Amino acid sequence: MGFADLEVNSSAAEHIPVLAETLAERIHLPTDGVMVDATIGQGGHSFLFGRNLGPEGVLIGLDVDKDSIRRAHFKLKNLLCRVILIRANFSQIGEQLSEQGIEKVDFILADLGLCSSQLADAGMGLSFQMDSPLDMRIDERLKTTAADIVNKTDEKALADLIYKFGEDRASRRIARFIVGYRQGRPITTTGQLAAVVCKALYRPAGKGKTKIHPATRTFQALRIAVNNELENLEKLLSSVPGLLKKKGQVAVISYHSLEDRLVKNSFKQNKQENIYSDITKKPIVPSRQEIAGNARARSAKLRIAQKS
Ligand SMILES: C[S@@+](CC[C@H](N)C(=O)[O-])C[C@H]1O[C@@H](n2cnc3c(N)ncnc32)[C@H](O)[C@@H]1O
Repeated sequence: MGFADLEVNSSAAEHIPVLAETLAERIHLPTDGVMVDATIGQGGHSFLFGRNLGPEGVLIGLDVDKDSIRRAHFKLKNLLCRVILIRANFSQIGEQLSEQGIEKVDFILADLGLCSSQLADAGMGLSFQMDSPLDMRIDERLKTTAADIVNKTDEKALADLIYKFGEDRASRRIARFIVGYRQGRPITTTGQLAAVVCKALYRPAGKGKTKIHPATRTFQALRIAVNNELENLEKLLSSVPGLLKKKGQVAVISYHSLEDRLVKNSFKQNKQENIYSDITKKPIVPSRQEIAGNARARSAKLRIAQKS
C-alpha cells in the first residue's frame, strides 16, 4: 500500500486485494498459462488468478519479505497449478525466471507498496500509528534503516530526500527540525520522528486542512529511500517487455504519484516503440464502493499494457 494509507489504523492483518474484480474482468489466462506475481504479499491476487489455472499452469510469486512468502504459501497451497514462491526482489525478475528455466510468461502483476500485515507489524517501523523502532526495511537483509538516514544525513541532503521522495514542500523546515532534535539525542522511534515533523509543521496529527497525518510524506520519503523503491520499479518495468509472450499482459497497481509516473512513462515509451500494442490511456481507479469497503484502496491506480 502507499503512503496515504499509513495513516489508516491497521489492526486488521488480513489484506484485501485491491481492484481484484477489475483485474479479473481484463486479464484472462489460459488454464496452462504462466503468470508472475512480482509482489505476492498475502497471495490474495494470486489466489484469484491461480484458481483458474489447471495442473499445466504455473504461478511464480516473488516477495522480499519472508513473512509474505510464508503467508502466500499457506494461501496458495491447494491450487492445482504449479506454484513457485521465491524470496527475491522484483528488480531481479529476469534472473529469477531464468533460474527456473522460464523464458516467457503470459502475465506479470505488480501490486506495489505494502500489505496490511506489514503496516501492522511494529517491527518494520513503517507506521506512525504506533511507537516502534524507526526501521522501515521491508527486507531485513538491507543494511540501512530509516533511523540511519534520519540521524546521519546532513540537513540539505535530508531536505532534498524529503522533497524528492515525499514531495513535501516543507522539506527544508522538517529537515531543520530533525537536525535540531538529533543534536540532543538520536531519533530512534517512529513516534519521535512523527512528533518532530508535527512540531516543524505546527500541526498536531488530525488537525489542519487535510486529514492526512503531517508526517505522512516524510515517512513515504524515508520508506522509498530505505527500500530503493523507485530504482527497483524502474528495473522491473524495463525487464517486463523481454519477459512477456506475444499478447502477454502486465498490470501494475501503484499508490503514489512517483510510482504511477514511472509506470505511465514506461508504458507510453514502449507503446511508441511498438513494443506494447495497447496500454490503458488513463489509470483505472477503484470505485467508491470498493474504497468504502477497503480504505487502503483509495490511492490505488492500475495501468495495464499488452505486448505486441
Ligand atoms: C500490496 S502488497 C501485495 C499484496 C498482494 N497483491 C495480495 O493480494 O496479497 C505488496 C507486497 O510487495 C512486496 N514488495 C515490495 N517491494 C518489493 C520488491 N522490490 N520486490 C519484491 N517484493 C516487494 C511487499 O513485501 C509486499 O508483500
